[in-house]
Amino acid sequence: MSILIKNIKQLVQVHDYNVMIVKGEDMKTLPVLENAYLYIEHDTIIEYGDMEYCHGIEAETIIDATGKIVLPAWCDSHTHIVYAGNRTSEFVDRINGLSYEDIANRGGGILNSAKLLQDTSEDDLYEQSINRLEELIRMGTCAFEIKTGYGLTVDAELKMLRVIKRIKQESLAKITPTLLAAHAIPAEYKDKKEDYIKLITDELIPEASKLNISHYIDVFCEKGYFDLNDTEAILKAAAEYNMKPKIHVNQFNILGGVGLGTKYDALSVDHLEELDDNDIKALKKSETIPVALPGCSYFLSIPYTPARKIIDAGLPLAIATDYNPGSAPSGNMNFIVSAACVKLKMTPEEAINAATINGAYAMGISNMYGSITRGKKANLIITKPLSDYSEIPYAFGHNPIEQVIINGQLKDIKNPEENFRI
Ligand code: NIG
Ligand code: FE
Repeated sequence: MSILIKNIKQLVQVHDYNVMIVKGEDMKTLPVLENAYLYIEHDTIIEYGDMEYCHGIEAETIIDATGKIVLPAWCDSHTHIVYAGNRTSEFVDRINGLSYEDIANRGGGILNSAKLLQDTSEDDLYEQSINRLEELIRMGTCAFEIKTGYGLTVDAELKMLRVIKRIKQESLAKITPTLLAAHAIPAEYKDKKEDYIKLITDELIPEASKLNISHYIDVFCEKGYFDLNDTEAILKAAAEYNMKPKIHVNQFNILGGVGLGTKYDALSVDHLEELDDNDIKALKKSETIPVALPGCSYFLSIPYTPARKIIDAGLPLAIATDYNPGSAPSGNMNFIVSAACVKLKMTPEEAINAATINGAYAMGISNMYGSITRGKKANLIITKPLSDYSEIPYAFGHNPIEQVIINGQLKDIKNPEENFRI
């Protein structure tokens, strides 16, 4: 199987060498080839270059991309796509004045989703989740991190892991699973949090490890959820099973989770709506990537992650959706790229770097995803005719995408019958 894309107006995020991450000042640069071609064989990017050199290349499928832009598909490094039902009633409660915290204190929030998920069959959960995922592929995302965390019992967390595994096996998308059993304290452990932490460290992590699906561990390190000591106990136990941290920190309060994450060699620390100078210092000494989730700030009306402070300190930054039923019920990365520009004051170049190569880094897959580089996987967006790549974040709420190529397969995203399964 081979595909040749010709007359590409802008081929975006082209790297001759295999970059793994883009940091600080370098995030302002987005390498672009004008009037280019791209050649794909099977699932792999084989060659690209100026149209001037596109002679003698034959392919089974030829696409004329006159006026269009081609870029690496979005890499969404923080999602909770596997959940049951929705929480529209809490959405209305918040409009009427309750806060996210008020709702959680009433036993709603994450616990509400956990109850629903526990009562949902594994097949039903799979169908709901893969349908969400396929909607997002149509919007240009081809690599997803997916967390557990709405199970909150050994059985239900393992059920979530099996659903994520099935998605990983059956979808053309690249999936990175993360174990987030420490997402909330289940009602039955309300006054014995230590017992739930023990259940995670002594039972769930070893059981999850036997399934060998998730190589990442997450904790919601936050007031009212898991404090710094709890988080450390979980990270320590997970390290024994070679699970690296990708943790929720500083969403509402600074507890020291950033420093703890870097101490345990976290791949990423996510949220960071609150951030202080100690956090910046800790990040500067680490290989850990900070991840901003502007969809959550938008939906909950909480502060936006101070991206300028992070990038201007010379650090890398990734952006992701946080797609979940409570704080960010949208997985649209086009909107996230736009919100990064409008609300986080990132340039389009910085936002696209954050949503592609740095998103891939935040999943540990940037050796094979996130840029147009020979030998990398062919996961690509072909836009509608656009004046420039900046039109993607500029025209917020619009869908800039015409076609996607996922794992080397060209997909008709407008056809409701199209599927994205192996
Ligand atoms: O990333 N912060 C914790 N977890 C999710 C919210 C989950 C929920 O409300 O269901 C988040 O925002
Ligand atoms: Fe999250």
